[in-house]
Amino acid sequence: MNESTARQIVLAARPHGKPKLTDFRLEEIAIPMPASGEVLLEVQYLSLDPYMRGRMDDRNFLAEYGVEGVGDVMFGETVARVIASNHPDYAEGDIVLAQTGWRTHALSDGARLKKLDPAVAPITTRLGVLGMPGFSAYSGLRLIGKPQPGETVVVAAASGPVGSLVGQLAKIAGASAVGIVGGPGKCAFVKDELRFDAAVDHRAADFLAQLAAACPNGVDVYFENVGGAIWQAVLPLLNQGARVPVCGLIAQYNGVGQGDGTDGLPATMRAILSKSLTLRGFLSHACAAAHYPAFLREVGAGIATGRIRYREDIVDGLEQAPGAFLGLLEGRNFGKVIVRVDA
Ligand SMILES: NC(=O)c1ccc[n+]([C@@H]2O[C@H](COP(=O)([O-])OP(=O)(O)OC[C@H]3O[C@@H](n4cnc5c(N)ncnc54)[C@H](OP(=O)(O)O)[C@@H]3O)[C@@H](O)[C@H]2O)c1
Repeated sequence: MNESTARQIVLAARPHGKPKLTDFRLEEIAIPMPASGEVLLEVQYLSLDPYMRGRMDDRNFLAEYGVEGVGDVMFGETVARVIASNHPDYAEGDIVLAQTGWRTHALSDGARLKKLDPAVAPITTRLGVLGMPGFSAYSGLRLIGKPQPGETVVVAAASGPVGSLVGQLAKIAGASAVGIVGGPGKCAFVKDELRFDAAVDHRAADFLAQLAAACPNGVDVYFENVGGAIWQAVLPLLNQGARVPVCGLIAQYNGVGQGDGTDGLPATMRAILSKSLTLRGFLSHACAAAHYPAFLREVGAGIATGRIRYREDIVDGLEQAPGAFLGLLEGRNFGKVIVRVDA
């Protein structure tokens, strides 16, 4: 690679089930030149998120939000620096939130850029706790979960950017927070660093007993990030009138077909009826945009004072993105996965 070469990662093949490294391809191209009204961006940080698995699949159940064609650059949100500008609103050196995808350089007409002020919060937080995942936690919990003082809130993938904020916001609302995570290291982090009331390891042999012990008064809000076996473990513990914001179903993202017939739907339907449950799915950007400024103010202030804590899992080099993404789908990440592209 030389100074005038850009790199990008494209979808090389559609995965069937679990993706592989060979489903991605690293390409080198010439750095493009900005035309009039355009800026040239140099990407600093790339966010890796579970939804990207869906975009690799042409049977994606969220297909209306976009699917990569084979050969397309992988979609993704980034923090980037303007390195050349022919646009009146942007100057060289501006730091922006962008949707450049998995690449080192990109052109933009400015339409989907947001200028960032690095003095407000570390810029990487705009991809995690103070970005799309954090906003999902905030909007799902506040608008659907509505935790009350003394209630119990359970969330899985609790050390990640969504789950870690769900539990901390539950505590701020006066509820107890119980996190479900994979492994003792994540349990310790959720309990000691994030200050949840309890953390439970879903990989432990006695997971069900641990979960029941951590929720002696049942569960009033289950913030669903995972689905599958975790949902089935929480379902019997739900209290009358419990609320279930359905944010993500990562346990199913590598699934092929319509399910394996063991999803427990009859039991779920019975519980919805007999316990008067409220289950509501949401896509944060589509359902709650009006609450975004309040989210930035409130969570931004919490980060500044240290009341809200977060963990980032930073990976160096664009070429490491496919491996880090496969790790995210298997729980090998520890915190919000961000690729430092300009490493
Ligand atoms: N609705 C929306 O608008 C929206 C927006 C953002 C994110 N989401 C969803 O929110 C969820 C969390 O996203 P995130 O960015 O915060 O991810 P994350 O926690 O950083 O990473 C995903 C985590 O899921 C856990 N996991 C993966 N497979 C699992 C399985 N089979 N069983 C149990 N746990 C499993 C792993 O944690 P452990 O090792 O702890 O098990 C893994 O680290 C995802 O489902 C995502 O799709 C939805």
